[in-house]
Amino acid sequence: MKISPVARLLFQSCVVAGLMLGGTAATFAQTKGSASHSSDPWWKHAVIYEIYPRSFQDSNGDGTGDLNGITQRLGYLHELGVDTIWIAPMFPSPQVDFGYDISDYEAVDPQYGTMADMDKLIAEAKKHDIRVMLDMVLNHSSDKHKWFEESKSSKTNPKRDWYVWKDGVGPNKMDPPNNWQSIFGHSAWKYDETTKQFYYHKFYAEQPDLNWRNPEVEKAIFSMLRFWLDKGVAGFRLDAIPTLFEAEDMKDEVVMKDANGQSSKNAFGDVVLDDAQTSGRPEVQDVLRRMRKLVDSYPGNRVLVGETYVANIGDLDKLYGGDKHDVLHMPMDFKVGMLNHLDAAGFRKNVTEAETMLGTNHPLFVFDNHDNARMDRYCKAEATDTGKDATPEECVAIQKMLSTLLFTSKATALMYYGDEIGMATTPPARKEDVKDPIGILGWPKEKGRDGDRTPMQWTAGKDAGFSTADSTWLPIPPSYTTVNVESEKGKADSLLTWYTELTALRKKNAAVHGGAMTMLDTTNPKVLSYTRKGADGKGIVVALNFSNEPQTIKLDVGKVSTLMTDSAELKNVSTGMITLPAYGSWVGEDR
Ligand code: GLC
Repeated sequence: MKISPVARLLFQSCVVAGLMLGGTAATFAQTKGSASHSSDPWWKHAVIYEIYPRSFQDSNGDGTGDLNGITQRLGYLHELGVDTIWIAPMFPSPQVDFGYDISDYEAVDPQYGTMADMDKLIAEAKKHDIRVMLDMVLNHSSDKHKWFEESKSSKTNPKRDWYVWKDGVGPNKMDPPNNWQSIFGHSAWKYDETTKQFYYHKFYAEQPDLNWRNPEVEKAIFSMLRFWLDKGVAGFRLDAIPTLFEAEDMKDEVVMKDANGQSSKNAFGDVVLDDAQTSGRPEVQDVLRRMRKLVDSYPGNRVLVGETYVANIGDLDKLYGGDKHDVLHMPMDFKVGMLNHLDAAGFRKNVTEAETMLGTNHPLFVFDNHDNARMDRYCKAEATDTGKDATPEECVAIQKMLSTLLFTSKATALMYYGDEIGMATTPPARKEDVKDPIGILGWPKEKGRDGDRTPMQWTAGKDAGFSTADSTWLPIPPSYTTVNVESEKGKADSLLTWYTELTALRKKNAAVHGGAMTMLDTTNPKVLSYTRKGADGKGIVVALNFSNEPQTIKLDVGKVSTLMTDSAELKNVSTGMITLPAYGSWVGEDR
């Protein structure tokens, strides 16, 4: 099971190129339930839960999830300890990229509900101490957005310059203007018959890139952001944000070569290119700075989170604005969570960097999302220490271990719906069943992202309690009979109980909330261990066994007692000398 092409390509390009990135408000008061150990803005300690609206809960029996479905499940989310939901795009869309092709930024897609349903969701969420964060796709719109329809209607239309148009080259000017490629395969240029020019699309051809060099575009988008901020949303997850600008010279991208001077091809059969011309351009930061000012002008600490695949911690720091803290509040750190190997030393290194090399900028770790395989990818042969698939029991232990790392670090915790019950990545078995277009284009090397987006498994009943329809938009994975909320709820050793305890620990324990991290036993290749301590010296100790064999460790700590563990033998620990079972997790109180 592999990282998705979106993640892979975005990541790869950043590694290669070295990222250059170098009112009227409805009040949104701090919610009652938030931890109050510090005067930090709420988002530094949030538990953010990503909801893919098509797949969370269907309230009207049409087989597709909707906003009222989310509203119905707010009680569940509150009990789980979630205090912020990020809803993947729910705006009107032809759904070519399942909402990431927006045709109207200030409305709700009828298949998800109405604006009244959205208002109700925001209001009800607030009653449950849950904030709502929206997913903003600003690099491109849908080709069915009225802006693009106007833009393509004639070369003299006032909106012509809202998108990126260019003459072709070659005989009859029918060849694309340069070699730029779409992340979703093949040329990033599409010829348009009406005006006999090409338009640029970093993603699908149905997702033409907006031209951010045109101030009118910024004006329209900023006004749209105000529309939602006025409605009381807590902030935005900014989709594919490093790709807002393209190099003005429009020169070809460089073909990537390996150490032997050879180029290679990706899953779509395209030669792999650098993307320095189309991603991470310096102008991105300027726009984000202005956007930050806009968002910061609203009360309640609204937040800008960025989808930012970058090569290293220095590039990530630039996306915060470094010491000035004036760009994004929290660009996503994919390096920790997407290590994709049960490698204690690798996690130690990446977590330490995020904890120590961002100054006072606050990390946000991402382990999975709607573009990437779920957490169970860490149970597959290519990720385990043994080179073999983990057993189902071991896989639960592995997920407990990784979630413990996520929730006991200082980073803001981001989880994806279904993580808490251990939903498995379930890609389609046949090409004819694939819904995600990249899975059709790239089959069988690239099966697309359907497997990461299957319906939430609530019960062992019809449609896993997700819907009452005879068929759901994606099939319910066979695992639903045992992996579901109902069967895990209240069960002492379930993953759901583990997650619920972790979110509670994070809220109530001052050291987990704000303590400084110190790595312990730093040369141990199998066990990751650390303390988080407050100024009073009190705190927690965490030990995670990344191997499938028991490990005995001796931690340099005083008297300890167990706070959380998945091992019966570790319930009554009193010193730092402990034996962790295979993939075992232990969290102790350091007294
Ligand atoms: C982001 C989204 C992904 C989408 C792409 C184009 O990477 O997370 O789902 O396909 O942008 O909008």
